[in-house]
Amino acid sequence: MIRTQVGIVGAGPAGLLLSHLLHLQGIDSVVVESRSREYVEERVRAGLLEQGTADLLVETGVGERLKREGLVHHGIYLRFGGGTHHIDFKTLVNRSVIIYPQNKVVADLFEARRAAGGQIFYESESVSVHDFGAATGGTHPKIRFHAHGKPEEVVCDFIAGCDGFHGICRPSLPEGALAVYDRIYPFGWLGILAEAPPSSDELIYAYHERGFALLSMRSPEISRLYIQCAPDEDIEKWPDQRIWGELHKRLATADGKWNLTEGPILQKGVTGMRSFVVEPMQHGNLFLAGDAAHIVPPTGAKGLNLAVSDVQVLARALAEFYGSGKKNLLDSYSAKCLRRVWKVQRFSWWMTSMLHLFNTDNAFDQRRQLAELDYVTSSRAASQTLAENYVGLPME
Ligand code: FAD
Ligand code: PHB
Repeated sequence: MIRTQVGIVGAGPAGLLLSHLLHLQGIDSVVVESRSREYVEERVRAGLLEQGTADLLVETGVGERLKREGLVHHGIYLRFGGGTHHIDFKTLVNRSVIIYPQNKVVADLFEARRAAGGQIFYESESVSVHDFGAATGGTHPKIRFHAHGKPEEVVCDFIAGCDGFHGICRPSLPEGALAVYDRIYPFGWLGILAEAPPSSDELIYAYHERGFALLSMRSPEISRLYIQCAPDEDIEKWPDQRIWGELHKRLATADGKWNLTEGPILQKGVTGMRSFVVEPMQHGNLFLAGDAAHIVPPTGAKGLNLAVSDVQVLARALAEFYGSGKKNLLDSYSAKCLRRVWKVQRFSWWMTSMLHLFNTDNAFDQRRQLAELDYVTSSRAASQTLAENYVGLPME
């Protein structure tokens, strides 16, 4: 049996950052993760950090590599109707975003936890959570699992469910404890990582009659590119040349002057798109954070950032509890997070709706989307709204 204050399920960005923030407040935690460290650190996922996320990582001592390698972007490009329009975050809201891959965030956090002697159980099997309900009669919450075939039990005061969308914490809550709000989109993204210098200084979001495309990057040497596809698209039907061909078409400018640099494809995959929220994000002494509680479509680049803001609120609430015995912040955790979650849901849904083809037969919708893009890029008020949300809404 292992006794700790906070038992954390999942060593993704949410779980590791929570463990790190708690450690800085003198609060002990144990993390239980079902995958191997290599798997978690190599998984290609998010790439864009809000300024507030990057600032938090720097302020809490895990931002050295981020400061060295992160690419600061002062805006994005919207490309439609063959033209390119810049949304300048710096002049509109005086904030920026940072390109820095999620796997590096996870590796930096792991390194900080390792250096501080933090306990993380990777490759845990049959993970389950117990005795976290409101009325446990004084028994402590528990995380049970098998480590290398041996049964283990973490006994704690609180459980943080940071185990992502497919984790076990959310489904362990009693029937009826959560209200679910969701929307599944009729498309997905086919994403590639390519060994090719990015063909743009900043991200390009392209609206095109063949479907949405996005040019992003990971470093000055590595491009990350996406195209809208069917939600169940068979990746086998997409040899490299077909992917590049589609990207060339969707990202082309009318004057033909812009060039997309190709390179060897290092990784490719298809991601489905959904919006999903559960309410509340707490049940008794179990707190859900990050993708375990909500999913956004990736168009607004918000998933990781939202996970970070959840655990920031949770760490503060736990620090108040251990410092003073007060539960006020723990009690308001869910309401406080959900206020921000819903605004970010709204933004992610809006970006997705504006930029993707929903129904190729519906010429009205396409005209309306083009009008929206025209408005967003020609009205200062509208572009400021986009910029304000994209760089990240304030925490409070
Ligand atoms: P996860 O990263 O999913 O971590 C959960 C962890 O829990 C995992 O390590 C998992 O193995 C573990 N786990 C699961 N089940 C169990 C179990 N039973 N027991 C123990 N452990 C378990 N977000 C952005 O902010 N910006 C972007 O640019 C962006 N781009 C994206 C692009 C793609 C293609 C995808 C798929 C996502 C993108 N996201 C982006 C979203 C972002 O990656 C997620 O929101 C983020 O990973 C959430 O972090 P998390 O820690 O909550 O969950
Ligand atoms: C990414 O680089 O993976 C990325 C960037 C912006 C998005 C989504 C994904 O909106």
